Amino acid sequence: MGNLLILFTASLCLFLFFIMNSQGIRGPPYEFIHGNNKEAAQMLMEASTKPMALTHDIFPRVMPHVYSWINKYVKTYLSWNGIRAQLLITDPELVKEKWKSKEGKEMEVFQEFRLLTSEVISRTAFGSSYLEGEKIFDINIYKAKIPISDKIAKMIHDSVMKIVKKRDDKVVTGEADNFGRDFLGLLVNVYHEADEKNSHSIQDLVDECKTFYFSGQETVNSLLAWATVLLAIHSDWQDKARAEVIEVFDTQNSDSEGMAKLNTITMIINETLRLYPPVNGVIRKVGKEVRLGKLVLPTHLEVDMRIIALHHDPDLWGDDVNLFKPERFAEGIAKATKYNAAAFMPFGLGPRSCVGMSFAITEAKIALSMILQCYTVIVSPTYVHAPAQRLTLKPQHGIQLLFHSLNYDI
Ligand code: HEM
Repeated sequence: MGNLLILFTASLCLFLFFIMNSQGIRGPPYEFIHGNNKEAAQMLMEASTKPMALTHDIFPRVMPHVYSWINKYVKTYLSWNGIRAQLLITDPELVKEKWKSKEGKEMEVFQEFRLLTSEVISRTAFGSSYLEGEKIFDINIYKAKIPISDKIAKMIHDSVMKIVKKRDDKVVTGEADNFGRDFLGLLVNVYHEADEKNSHSIQDLVDECKTFYFSGQETVNSLLAWATVLLAIHSDWQDKARAEVIEVFDTQNSDSEGMAKLNTITMIINETLRLYPPVNGVIRKVGKEVRLGKLVLPTHLEVDMRIIALHHDPDLWGDDVNLFKPERFAEGIAKATKYNAAAFMPFGLGPRSCVGMSFAITEAKIALSMILQCYTVIVSPTYVHAPAQRLTLKPQHGIQLLFHSLNYDI
């Protein structure tokens, strides 16, 4: 049985290799079982131990293997994630075609934003307060290792079931006449649906909650952290952004009408998402042989769209690709990308793109506005610039910034 499996796997690998090779697609050589993982891990390890200057040329550090193979095999190449064949495409035409109060004190903002984003997603999606103790998913998924242990899986399962039970109890006691209109309420509703075939299992419900929490928290955490450090580095843009916030909201709380007027902040958010995309790539598996441009992609092949590679491509963005220039987005995303939708895709593309995009941008606008209303932010001398891919794009050594109160009476 074991031998048969090895034979099948080897044949599939050979088949995918020959099909792609016959179409002129090259890539790093396959090593049995490991594919290119060992080489990639080695490059990642070397890159992450090297110091980096405070520049936005992060691609060679965050994805050194992809960077080197893109240059060697000219943008589209076949690599091996273990035994999984992955076609990396960074040609936007191909991508589009397939998927139409701490005055003056130093603060580590990544952790601060972790608390904020956890609170926001906990309250809005699950109706429970993170800070008041409903730490449903209070697990550093990266540290907890993937796949997560049985013990952690059980902890998450139990906490989700606890809040589900609370909703159930409210309906049973008559305190509420439905399960709620937030994300959790909708899921619990589906779970209780009479039709056995359509209803979700408990495990589905728990899995949906985990995915939603992770998608909604880690990503915005990353966006806010990098946006704040960019504002701290580029004080001219910090001043412009603050002037806009004060003009729109003065020192008052933000409101939905004002949100639409925050053009400079929107440009800054877009430029942050371009240079520091929280999700650095999306992968799709070919279910049925399909034509992509001039290539014929066989079943089982995975197509890897490296968002970070597209966003750092000088052919798409110009020689100043690694400079922070929010003015690129002054006339909107379409103009900035020269109407090339796949050149900028921090939220993915097509029908399976991010469902939380507007939510994320609104959350980021509110948080940044509040910071700018109250503080000037500068980079602490202890900050070490080291972006690293840890599921999302994270600062390897945290983000240490200094906050000086503006003394507005808010
Ligand atoms: C800056 C913040 C965010 C970024 C950069 C981001 C990025 C992405 C990307 C790249 C995908 C994959 C799309 C694809 O596979 O083509 C995705 C999917 C998803 N995101 Fe986000 N996201 C963000 C915030 C959020 C928020 C706040 C939520 C929820 C409130 C959310 C919920 C989801 C969900 C549920 C999916 C899966 C969609 C599906 O598979 O159909 N995301 N996101």
